[in-house]
Amino acid sequence: MYSKKILFVCLGNICRSPMAEGVFLHLLNEMGIGDKYTVDSAGTAGYHIGASPDKRMVATALSHGVTLPSKTRKCTEQDFLQYDYIVAMDQSNVDDLTTIKPTNNVRAQLLKMRDFDIIDKHGDVPDPYYGGQEGFENVYQILLRCNTSFIDYLEKNK
Ligand code: 4NP
Repeated sequence: MYSKKILFVCLGNICRSPMAEGVFLHLLNEMGIGDKYTVDSAGTAGYHIGASPDKRMVATALSHGVTLPSKTRKCTEQDFLQYDYIVAMDQSNVDDLTTIKPTNNVRAQLLKMRDFDIIDKHGDVPDPYYGGQEGFENVYQILLRCNTSFIDYLEKNK
């Protein structure tokens, strides 16, 4: 069976996109459909390559029973050839991804995470890196909401 390939992208790949990946995987497992998707996350910047996610984001995730499995990597041109969907956390990620995107053989559809927000479709997932702990919880709540609708969309558009 072909598994759909999803890549979540933010700037540093240590806060928002690892949480998006972790929440997405957690929801898939709850639904018993984990084997239908291949999931990863990446950053548009290479500040923290090989690092684990930010400790504050790991703690927030664990408080909701979510684990954050992946190590930081940078998004590449190849990702556009291999993934079905690349999901950006904010508009500046979309702008940066547009400069990484190759001109030929692109497979990936580029989407914005909050396009799937049933409360506010017009925002970004805010960067919590320089703020307090409440910002990390806010990111979790947004990503839970958005990924619930995103999975619903994916399952309806097979
Ligand atoms: P992220 O947050 O894009 O959600 O991973 C950031 C992490 C690190 C930095 C900026 C944003 N930084 O400047 O190091």
